[in-house]
Amino acid sequence: MPESLKIVMIASEAVPFAKTGGLADVVGTLPKFLQAEGHEVIVVMPKYQSIDYVRWGLNPYLSPLGVWMGNAQEWASVHMTLATGFPVYFIEAHKYFDRPGLYHDAAMNDYQDNPRRFGFLTRAALQLCQDIGFKPDIVHAHDWHTALAAAYLKIWHWNDPALGRAASVLTIHNVGYQGVYPASHVDYLGLQWGNFTPDKFEDHGAINFLKGGTVYADMVTTVSPTYADETRTPALGTGLAPYLNNKGDSYVGILNGVDYNEWNPAVDRLIPAHYSPDDLAGKAADKAELQRRMGLTVDPHVPILGVVSRLVAQKGLDLLAAALDAILSNMAMQFVIVGSGDPELEGYYASLPRRYPGRVGSFIGYHNELAHLIEAGADFFIMPSIYEPCGLNQMYSLKYGTLPIVRATGGLNDTVEQYDEATGAGTGFKFWEPSPAAIYYTVGWAVSTYYDRPTHMAQLIQRAMTRDFSWERSMDGYLAAYRRAIRNKRGG
Ligand code: ADP
Ligand code: GLC
Repeated sequence: MPESLKIVMIASEAVPFAKTGGLADVVGTLPKFLQAEGHEVIVVMPKYQSIDYVRWGLNPYLSPLGVWMGNAQEWASVHMTLATGFPVYFIEAHKYFDRPGLYHDAAMNDYQDNPRRFGFLTRAALQLCQDIGFKPDIVHAHDWHTALAAAYLKIWHWNDPALGRAASVLTIHNVGYQGVYPASHVDYLGLQWGNFTPDKFEDHGAINFLKGGTVYADMVTTVSPTYADETRTPALGTGLAPYLNNKGDSYVGILNGVDYNEWNPAVDRLIPAHYSPDDLAGKAADKAELQRRMGLTVDPHVPILGVVSRLVAQKGLDLLAAALDAILSNMAMQFVIVGSGDPELEGYYASLPRRYPGRVGSFIGYHNELAHLIEAGADFFIMPSIYEPCGLNQMYSLKYGTLPIVRATGGLNDTVEQYDEATGAGTGFKFWEPSPAAIYYTVGWAVSTYYDRPTHMAQLIQRAMTRDFSWERSMDGYLAAYRRAIRNKRGG
């Protein structure tokens, strides 16, 4: 087995080029750390409209790229950049990716041709490897969008000089999104009707990308150990549990890492004042700036509770909404939120500052700089998720000494240690029941700790800031998964 691995990652988003959630952080960061260990990694993703050629130094690399779909010949151009220190290839196909959104239009309607768009991306990425002579040991697919890579390797490329030896790893960032589409796409996607069976792609008469990918992949991973356990059960497996269980120990949970060059109060370029566990003065300055920016009363002595999130059901922010009036009425505190998504939740959170002037600030939309400022300036960060495969913000929060208040699910459970009021141990506040009442009492517990147990607060902050969730740690998990995938593929 080669010491140094050649890896192609195929994904629908990656920082700093295009991001809607944590998937982008992972795909844009993990390769840097693998490369530093001596592995050769390339990333292939779409050239979306929002990705600027000049800003990112995109250079024409290959044109045309001919991509055979199951029943059609398609064409693309390929651009490349080394802006992140490793090669990122962009598949440019105007009819599929030259649109304002990544997955949906401004009204949040999914693009109807998403199965074709991402099926095409996946085939194009494999074709690109063939055309440029990149012979990967590992094809690493992420989420339903590119899950078909695992199937294509076995259906189409089993005997191919460039791809025949490649083992596939599928990382599931969220079982809640499986990519289920009408069977009419089987031909275009080149899945062959013989494979349209319940043990492979077929799911109640439709095609299920993630299920097919899971079945075909040599190794399947998800993004935290607890979520791996949870998804093996019907409650959180969302229909996939039997197929994940079939993988046996070829399905594992590997905690995401954090890029501490980006998310670290000692070096963060997006916050006004730096700080570290030894000197927290900068955090007070960041708090004052956050209060100014979000229209809050500037007051160093009142705790701020923060949220940065996609506003979707998964995140439990409807439960928080149901608890917030009681929280704001009964507790001396401020609240800030940056997020976008569900129009109803957007409307609710947008209306709060009018109802609680000087005490609540909200920004509806995507705003990376404010996200950093909230991490730095808030005292607490809440994630009441119904489920959370890993979650990155709670790990960012720990590093910024902004104590997480989380529902004990998935990666939130694996990364936050429960505060012990008797000893002062822990790094945050956990609750189990998905209810407004549980949120209310846990926020109350945190706020009372802030006012009544300042020594414990200081200890919690110190401990939180020195916990290590760096990629150096998590990368070993991926290397083990890659080697296991190669063994599974090649036998022995
Ligand atoms: P998910 O991927 O399910 O959205 P994660 O916690 O893994 O959850 O990752 C979310 C990432 O997206 C974090 O880096 C967070 O800061 C960022 N993010 C989410 N919503 C926004 C927003 N409205 N503005 C800026 N950043 C956001
Ligand atoms: C998904 C999950 C989130 C995870 C992220 C990156 O979007 O919802 O919990 O952190 O992927 O793996």
